[in-house]
Amino acid sequence: LLVKLLAYRLLYPLRTYLVVSGAWDVEANVMAADWVTVLSAKPFLIGVAVSPKRYTHSLIEKYGEFVISVPNINMIKDVWIVGSESGPSKLSKVGFTLVKAKSIKTPIVKEAVANLECRVIDKHVYGDHTFFVGMVVDYSYDPKAYVDTTPNLDAGFIAHIAWNKFIKISGEVVET
Ligand SMILES: Cc1cc2nc3c(=O)[nH]c(=O)nc-3n(C[C@H](O)[C@H](O)[C@H](O)COP(=O)(O)O)c2cc1C
Repeated sequence: LLVKLLAYRLLYPLRTYLVVSGAWDVEANVMAADWVTVLSAKPFLIGVAVSPKRYTHSLIEKYGEFVISVPNINMIKDVWIVGSESGPSKLSKVGFTLVKAKSIKTPIVKEAVANLECRVIDKHVYGDHTFFVGMVVDYSYDPKAYVDTTPNLDAGFIAHIAWNKFIKISGEVVET
């Protein structure tokens, strides 16, 4: 494999999320995404940069919705599958389950520690990615993974280092 220095990696480690797209009863897809950010607390807005090369891009355009799911270390093999293969056929290889969301047509990942259900309110092309802005209209999470909305590190949150290397977030919590 050709290994290049990709300068955006200077910002890593970054958390890795899953982007679910499509509609649960028609067609659905999942990809991995590092380039996810909070934009506003009230209203709760999040953004994700998706390359137009991704199958996910066409489904977000078609349905105007997406879900950001938070995977944990138990899902790491599946994170890699959905982050390295294109199109819904890859879903036959993964161990997680897509189930109906609370408020949108796009399904959520049952095994993820959290799922944020988003309606696209804006999009803009920046360079080689489209930045989709989503209003979080509903969410669900594993109450064991968050204590009073603070992440419980026992839940095995993950971050991305490079290519197929990830870390489980653990260790000393420093209080200031
Ligand atoms: C850890 C990881 C993070 C990724 N982050 C992004 C991202 O933020 N934006 C993006 O467009 N692609 C990202 N990708 C690439 C897509 O996940 C990958 O191209 C995937 O195969 C697209 O699937 P699709 O064509 O079925 O939508 C990432 C891949 C990995 C492994």
